[in-house]
Amino acid sequence: MKTVVIIPAAGLGTRMASAQAAKPSKPPATKQFVELRGTPVLVHTLRKFASSPEVAEIFVPLRKSEIDSFRQRLEREEPEILRKKTVLLEGGEHRQQSVANALAAVSASAEDIVLVHDAVRPFVTEEIIHDVIAAAAKYGAAITGLPAVDTVKQVERTAEGAIVKATIPREKIVMAQTPQGFRYDVLKKAFDEAAADGMVGTDEASLVERSGHQVAVVMGSPRNIKITTPADLELAEFFMKR
Ligand code: C5P
Repeated sequence: MKTVVIIPAAGLGTRMASAQAAKPSKPPATKQFVELRGTPVLVHTLRKFASSPEVAEIFVPLRKSEIDSFRQRLEREEPEILRKKTVLLEGGEHRQQSVANALAAVSASAEDIVLVHDAVRPFVTEEIIHDVIAAAAKYGAAITGLPAVDTVKQVERTAEGAIVKATIPREKIVMAQTPQGFRYDVLKKAFDEAAADGMVGTDEASLVERSGHQVAVVMGSPRNIKITTPADLELAEFFMKR
């Protein structure tokens, strides 16, 4: 059994735009290329998987215009990452299409494991990677998630904001993080079915759930944040310092 990881990094990440305002000379970086201590977030994330002894290959869907320069950067500055098979390829219009493009480039057998991890979660740990691989091998599909600490409301959106419709019992809620891990045959079937039906999900597990396969949850970490807004970036700088 081998494990490959897909790290979708082809997003535009417009919510990060205001963090760029201090550097007007540079074109705005997409959120996966925003720098943390002088290094793009995506590179921090890649280092984690490149150094994991359990991961054999890495696939990174990128925007077409960013592939060549990113490859050159890795060759110049990150030879450690390139020691592992690392495939840079063109992403798609939305996250699911980016992952589908990578999945099409993966050569694997049914029982191999495919992890999918957000480019913008650089604080993933070796322990989480291990736990998700082990659960995916055991159950066929697994995500890492955190119990909800806030009270969760179901709302109806209105022109002014939202109105609460119900309170969802918090013990029934898990906040999904990545990595999400799947046996190759389980993920391939789910993606094929979603493509046939035109279904688009916000994570891979939602496609697998829809195809009728149970998805296990392993404990994530509050530090495994998704760097999405300028406030997340400040928190990430703080974690990096420590
Ligand atoms: O924008 P969102 O928060 O859904 O992005 C999650 C991840 O999916 C990011 O790592 C982003 O780069 C990636 N993505 C992608 N292709 C897209 C849109 C998002 O690879 N077209």
